[in-house]
Amino acid sequence: MAALHGRREEASSRGGPGGGRVIDYLRVSITDRCNFRCVYCMPAEGVRFKDHSRILTYEEIVRFTWAAADLGITRVRVTGGEPLARKQSQDLVAMLAAVPGVKDLALTTNGYLLEEYAAALRAAGLSRINISIDSLDPDRFSRITRGARLEKVLAGLERALEVGFSPVKVNVVMLDGIEDDLDEFVAVCMEMPVHVRFIEFMPVGRRRGGIWKFVPRQRVLDALGRYGELSPAHSPQGGGPARYFRFQGARGTIGFISSMSDHFCSECNRLRLTADGKLRNCLFSDNEIDVVPYINGDMEELQQVILRSINGKRFDRLGEESGGRTMAQIGG
Ligand code: GTP
Ligand code: 5AD
Ligand code: SF4
Ligand code: SF4
Repeated sequence: MAALHGRREEASSRGGPGGGRVIDYLRVSITDRCNFRCVYCMPAEGVRFKDHSRILTYEEIVRFTWAAADLGITRVRVTGGEPLARKQSQDLVAMLAAVPGVKDLALTTNGYLLEEYAAALRAAGLSRINISIDSLDPDRFSRITRGARLEKVLAGLERALEVGFSPVKVNVVMLDGIEDDLDEFVAVCMEMPVHVRFIEFMPVGRRRGGIWKFVPRQRVLDALGRYGELSPAHSPQGGGPARYFRFQGARGTIGFISSMSDHFCSECNRLRLTADGKLRNCLFSDNEIDVVPYINGDMEELQQVILRSINGKRFDRLGEESGGRTMAQIGG
């Protein structure tokens, strides 16, 4: 890699429509499988998954990350599907933590296996963790996930705090009826050092039809008014699009990721690698580059491909239709 040092600038100061913006955040989906079947993400019967032989190996993912880090990627987030559903994901975490230039290594999980794996992930060098919990009511949680047990996810959240992850963020996709859950979510951010982020549903992939009703940020913001005044807060460590607020005396914060009512594409800093080796420069764009032919070859060529994706990045994609892949296949 020594010959390539000094090329970091290329990824952040290229010309083109996104000229001058820093692309420093890579989201890597390591599997499109998931042990949940959330109503807004998967059909009840699951989706037809990629043949396992086409999923990138951990060595290939690390090689890609190495190439990307040499071009200026400093943050890496491991996603799925459910990343902990792939065997020995802590081994990948350890390998990614050792990639030069990666300063922030994070993971997004549904929390179901976290009680079991939190300590190993921490020991492997993971810095922080985001956990998806769409409801704190066991019945509603079970309805949303089609049968998962909330209790097990909460045990995972507690274990993540115990083993020292910080910050810990909880992702809540705002679904109809969310108001009934606010007492519990507010209690969490008051009493625990946890950042609760309410996410506007994004119409990605084939599951964009409507069995749920879109809930805009403002509706939840208005409903939170009854708990006290929310003041703007500093962002906890992270590089994502959330905006944060704090109730007086709270240990954690409330965040909003309002992709639909407040486009943040002009600040977009990220690339995505799918589990089957497709490089995407936008969540909403099906314009992918297959990196499989390059991943085990010449490092310079692989980096040219990454630069091609970065230079082709547009920053106004939101609202476009994306048809090909589900959210679980892209990794959020
Ligand atoms: P932090 O680094 O902790 O801020 O992570 P993050 O919020 O970027 O990651 P996470 O996996 O927790 O994602 C939370 C929500 O933000 C999910 O619904 C993602 O789909 C959404 N999200 C993350 N990155 C992007 C993005 O680049 N564009 C859009 N539109 N949504 C995104
Ligand atoms: N819109 C917004 N967020 C979504 N997530 C999954 N599908 C969607 C969607 N269509 C969330 C998950 C997880 C994160 C990676 O993305 O709940 O917290
Ligand atoms: Fe639910 Fe996330 Fe799994 Fe989709 S990938 S079914 S949103 S836990
Ligand atoms: Fe970036 Fe695309 Fe998300 Fe906009 S929709 S923030 S361009 S990934």
